[in-house]
Amino acid sequence: MGELLKVENLNVYYGSIHAIKDISFHVNEGEIVTMIGANGAGKTTTMHAISGLKKIRSGNIHYEDKLISKMDAYKIVSLGLAQCPEGRRVFSGLTVQENLELGAYARKDGREAIQDDFDMVFDLLPRLKERRNQMAGTLSGGEQQMLAIGRALMSKPKMLLLDEPSMGLSPLLVKEVFKTIVNVNKAGVTVLLVEQNAKMALNIADRGYVIETGNITMEGKASDLASDPKVRQAYLGGVKKKGLACLPLFMYDNPRLDEYRYRNRDSRRFT
Ligand SMILES: Nc1ncnc2c1ncn2[C@@H]1O[C@H](COP(=O)(O)OP(=O)(O)O)[C@@H](O)[C@H]1O
Ligand SMILES: [Mg+2]
Repeated sequence: MGELLKVENLNVYYGSIHAIKDISFHVNEGEIVTMIGANGAGKTTTMHAISGLKKIRSGNIHYEDKLISKMDAYKIVSLGLAQCPEGRRVFSGLTVQENLELGAYARKDGREAIQDDFDMVFDLLPRLKERRNQMAGTLSGGEQQMLAIGRALMSKPKMLLLDEPSMGLSPLLVKEVFKTIVNVNKAGVTVLLVEQNAKMALNIADRGYVIETGNITMEGKASDLASDPKVRQAYLGGVKKKGLACLPLFMYDNPRLDEYRYRNRDSRRFT
C-alpha cells in the first residue's frame, strides 16, 4: 500500500494570519486517516488546500504522484479526489436523486457507469433510496449528511475528504454516519476525515494526526492516540463539562468564533 496523498511543509495564510504552519502528513491507499483538532485549529483550511479551494503559500501536495497543489479544484475532483464539505451542504430545493446526479456532473464515463454508481450509493445508503424523490431540505440532519457523502461518492472518487461529518448530529446519528464511512472505506475508498469528535474518529481510523493552532502536534496509530493521556485530557472528555465555569477546552481555543459556528455546534457538547 503506497502513499496516495502526501502533504509536505504546507503553509496557508489568510492575509497576515498564518493558519497552517508547515505541516506534513500522508494517507496510504486504503486507509482511514483522521485529523483531530479543536474548533479553529485549521482542519477545514487543510481540506480546502488539498481540494484546491484555498490557495497555499508554500509546500507540496501530491496525489497519486501528481503534484496537485497548483491545480484547479475541478481538475483535482476529476482525478478522483472528492471533498464532502463541512456543514452538510446539500441543495435543499432539489430532490435526493438530483443532488446525487450533480455529484456525477464532471464524469465522462457514460450513463451506464453512472447508473452503476447510483446503485452502489443506494446500497451503501439505503435511507436515500427510500427518499430518492424527496426534497433534500426536508431530510433530517443525519440523512442530509448521508446525502452529502453520497453526492461526493457519485464523482467516483478513489479518495474522499470528509470535513466534520458529525457536526450538529445527535450521538445516535453520528454512529450511523461513521458506520457508513467504514462501509465506504471497505468499498475501496481511501478516507481522510477531519473531526472535533475525536472519540468517534479515532475509533474508526487506522492512523491519526492531532492539529493545534495550525501545527501537527502528535501523530500515530489511532488506537495509540486514543489511549494517550494528553489526547484523552484534551479531546476525549478529560475535561469536566459542568456549568459555565468548566467549558470544554475547544471553546477557549478560539475566542473569535463566529456565531454561526456556535449555533451549529453539536448540541452534545453543551449538555
Ligand atoms: N476566511 C477566513 N478569513 C480569515 N481567517 C480565517 C478564514 N477561515 C478560517 N480562518 C482562520 O483560520 C484558522 C483555522 O480555521 P479553520 O481551518 O476553519 O479551522 P477548523 O476547521 O479546524 O475549525 C482559524 O483561526 C480561523 O479563524
Ligand atoms: Mg472546520
